Amino acid sequence: MIMRREATGSRDWWRTGVIYQIYPRSFRDGNGDGIGDLFGVIEHLPYLSEMLGIEAIWLSPFYPSPMRDGGYDISDFTNVDPTFGDLATFRSLLTEAHRHGLKVLIDYVPNHTSDQHPWFVASRSARSHPLRDWYIWRDPRPDGSAPNNWVEETGNSVWEWEERTGQYYLHSHYVSQPDLNWRNPSVRAAMIDVLRFWLDLGVDGFRIDVPHLIMKDPQWRDNPPNPHPQANPYDRQHPLFHTQLHVYDRQHPDLHEVYREIRTVLDSYSGEYDHVMMGETEVCAWETWLRYYGQDQDEFHLPFHFQLIETPWQAGAIRSFVETFEQHLPMGAWPNYVLGNHDRPRLATRCGAEAVRIAAMLLLTLRGTPTLYYGEELGMPDVPVTPQQQQDPLGRDPTRTPMLWNAEPHAGFCPPQARPWLPVPSDYRTTNVATQLSAPHSTLNLYRRLVAYRRASEALCTGTYRSIPLSQEGCYAYLREAKGQRVLVALNLSAQEQVVSLSDLREGWVAISTELDRQEAIDPNRLLLRKHEGLLVELRG
Ligand code: NOJ
Ligand code: CA
Repeated sequence: MIMRREATGSRDWWRTGVIYQIYPRSFRDGNGDGIGDLFGVIEHLPYLSEMLGIEAIWLSPFYPSPMRDGGYDISDFTNVDPTFGDLATFRSLLTEAHRHGLKVLIDYVPNHTSDQHPWFVASRSARSHPLRDWYIWRDPRPDGSAPNNWVEETGNSVWEWEERTGQYYLHSHYVSQPDLNWRNPSVRAAMIDVLRFWLDLGVDGFRIDVPHLIMKDPQWRDNPPNPHPQANPYDRQHPLFHTQLHVYDRQHPDLHEVYREIRTVLDSYSGEYDHVMMGETEVCAWETWLRYYGQDQDEFHLPFHFQLIETPWQAGAIRSFVETFEQHLPMGAWPNYVLGNHDRPRLATRCGAEAVRIAAMLLLTLRGTPTLYYGEELGMPDVPVTPQQQQDPLGRDPTRTPMLWNAEPHAGFCPPQARPWLPVPSDYRTTNVATQLSAPHSTLNLYRRLVAYRRASEALCTGTYRSIPLSQEGCYAYLREAKGQRVLVALNLSAQEQVVSLSDLREGWVAISTELDRQEAIDPNRLLLRKHEGLLVELRG
């Protein structure tokens, strides 16, 4: 099938630039305690801006937290956990990042707090406390059981019984992460103030955690059973989570009004450039997912679409997802692609090492904003973690191991005498930033080439997308076009050499091969793709 979409012509930074996700505990330990911190991020800003060429960093939570959920259990929304530095460190990070031309996006976790948050401590203290209704407290059913059948990702009930005040509270994640009650106007006002706090400091936008969860069914109805329960192999959720259809515990349409308000707040800070709202929107029916852009595109700039993480690494499956995505998008809504994050197995582990280079070309040449998870630019795989080293009860540690900077002890993540909070892989002496920078054909240098090419290419930044039908099963090709520039991307995901014929195209020139060893004229009628090779071809005419 051939499809075409119009270019927007817009050069808004969040449409064209690459967004790089930093998991602060794992990026670089700047003060020698074995845990990554904001000092470490500041240290490596030149790498991100000058070496890699990305546009914006997104920092996963660095707020005060008991760290039961890697910092997504927050006990103070407007401060920095001492593990990472303090507010002054964050201010320096902002200043330095901006000086390097980087935007800074931070995580905003509206759905829940830590049970150590003073709001929850107050709320749980007595039924009569003015903050009682800031969280979701319900009476038991007449037989004493939980208010309904909802289960959270670990497979347990979302309801936790509090003997002292004789009610259950709701937690969509761990017991230690009670959900806020967004239907209470005081909660809403307090949480909007949190956004203003960070915007006033100078942040450029937010990645909003589990945006689909903040409003639940006001009648608290039971979720129906799932007639076809099937665990998602790419997610770390407990199989029990899938035994029910999650129709009442999430995605209540009332949440859109909240995101419209948040967008208005962000827009009020947008002067020369946009302040941006990205959302960790779960994969769901297209109709439901598309609503996160807002009916007049007045909600999320970039609702993440995670389908690529969950798509088998096959040319047909990937093409069909991209085409469906392109077809569903309303005019003006901007696509985005994600290949990895701190919750899912890394691409090299999920799809195999041979997928890494093709994935880089795919991510950086599709129409839409690419988000890159730290370490993916090295082709880092998941790192095995022993039960003694385990930190995360959901088993996400292997995806969160330290960034590999050089061949020194602990891969340069922390000083030799410190012990990294999670292990580095045994082969770190060969796979690290320094080694890959000096190896001309490395994965890192492929990323650098692709990012640099993308930055300079109107066709890749804002051009149209058109997929090209191919008879070879393992191959996927598409055209990106903008005024005066036509770029062909041809990917061979198979383990065999393939010769593809793109008969309606004129001759061209290979600008980038995923192996970084080919720059030559080609005949599109007989385009040779080596196994697992991708080509970026500039077409004449
Ligand atoms: C999604 C985050 O990405 C994940 O790491 C976290 O555990 C949950 N939301 C809860 O905040
Ligand atoms: Ca540290």
